[in-house]
Amino acid sequence: MKKNLVVLLCSFMVIGLAGIAFAGGGLPEAKGQAVYDYITKTNPYQQWSLFPGKGKFYTGKHPHGALLTTYVNDVALAGINDKVGTLANGSIIVKENYMPNKMLGAITVMYRVAGYDPNGGDWFWAKYAANGSIAKEGKVNGCINCHAAVINNDWVFTGPVK
Ligand code: HEC
Repeated sequence: MKKNLVVLLCSFMVIGLAGIAFAGGGLPEAKGQAVYDYITKTNPYQQWSLFPGKGKFYTGKHPHGALLTTYVNDVALAGINDKVGTLANGSIIVKENYMPNKMLGAITVMYRVAGYDPNGGDWFWAKYAANGSIAKEGKVNGCINCHAAVINNDWVFTGPVK
């Protein structure tokens, strides 16, 4: 009887660990194309949650679109909701940048990768044209220098993370 219970508990542990490995192992490399494939095919961002407190097509500022729609993956969402201060590794924020006529102009992405860029908050940055071609990727100085203004909010402008 006791032995059965141990076997049962061990089985649950194995299934649980496999689940964690699967969820974590699915994340892309910090490379423009890998991230784009992930957010458009593997785990399509348009099925994610909107940034808490924001609707679709809210008004943006230069240099981003006139109208913005921003999505967060589950990891980022949990961190924002729990006000963790520093979003966990694997957090992804995808922002659609629209022109005033609601034509998609570009997609900008922040993706937290453990140890990727300690000076830039370990964020991987990318900008894609509407057709998916990569405009900028990596440790992009332009993105980092401006977002550094909100370093105390984990480099995130759109809403509080702490
Ligand atoms: C001159 C300042 C500036 C630069 C440069 C800049 N951003 Fe932003 N970014 C902002 C502001 C301000 C917001 C808040 C949305 C808005 O009002 O436009 C924002 C929002 C974002 C967001 C949504 C999450 C957040 O931080 O609020 C992402 C993702 C993002 N930017 C990515 C990028 C990427 C990638 C680059 C470089 C290719 C970049 N940004 C360059 C100012 C900047």
